[in-house]
Amino acid sequence: MKGKQTKLVIAIDGFSSCGKSTMAKDIAKIMSYIYVDTGAMYRAVTLYALRKNWINEDEVETPLLIDALNDIHISFQYNEENQTNVTFLNGENIETEIRQLEVSNNVSVIAAIGEVRRHLVKLQQEFGNDGGVVMDGRDIGTVVFPHADLKIFMTADPMIRAKRRYDELTAKGDSVTIEDILANVEKRDYIDQNREESPLTKAADAVVLDNSRLTPAEQTALVMEWIKEKKEEKDV
Ligand code: DC
Repeated sequence: MKGKQTKLVIAIDGFSSCGKSTMAKDIAKIMSYIYVDTGAMYRAVTLYALRKNWINEDEVETPLLIDALNDIHISFQYNEENQTNVTFLNGENIETEIRQLEVSNNVSVIAAIGEVRRHLVKLQQEFGNDGGVVMDGRDIGTVVFPHADLKIFMTADPMIRAKRRYDELTAKGDSVTIEDILANVEKRDYIDQNREESPLTKAADAVVLDNSRLTPAEQTALVMEWIKEKKEEKDV
């Protein structure tokens, strides 16, 4: 029906450090949609497993973790003051902890476990049941929402991503080298694309957004154009 308030499902996939979450949050805010950071969900499960001492040098106590999946409750709350999403694990604010190096260094092994993925995918699909959602990750357009209204595959030159990350970290006072960061970016790209379970790949019907040479404002304007087109297609 023309003019009805169509709420889209917007799937954003892509490489690490491409600015997926910044863009997804921006779009969700403009559209008054909910934003779901699926990477935070894999990070939350990783934190739970680390606290239980179930990860040792890339070896995971997988059966124990699978048994515990129903005890791991993940939720998000929007913080109006600093306009960020905050991740909760069983009622505890874990937003800061899941961004720390220990979780970043262990999350790939957890994200490679099929049962963990299937459990989280089910929850992610529930978030998107009624539309009006922007979700970012690695398998949103391919596995979570294969029928998403708009699928965006984000990419940027690895050196440009490394430089952005370098600027962020040095601004916080961290002492890092650009070579180390570039090596880490390339390693994560390799793991994301080559794991057996739901590897990162562009859905056939996704539009590619290479933001190597786009400002955040230009990028948002471009995506808003795509959203407008999709809404018009859906509203007729
Ligand atoms: O986007 P991020 O860096 O916060 O993601 C953390 C990890 O989780 C990263 O190793 C990729 C993985 N991930 C995934 O496998 N599938 C998703 N949908 C989201 C993230």
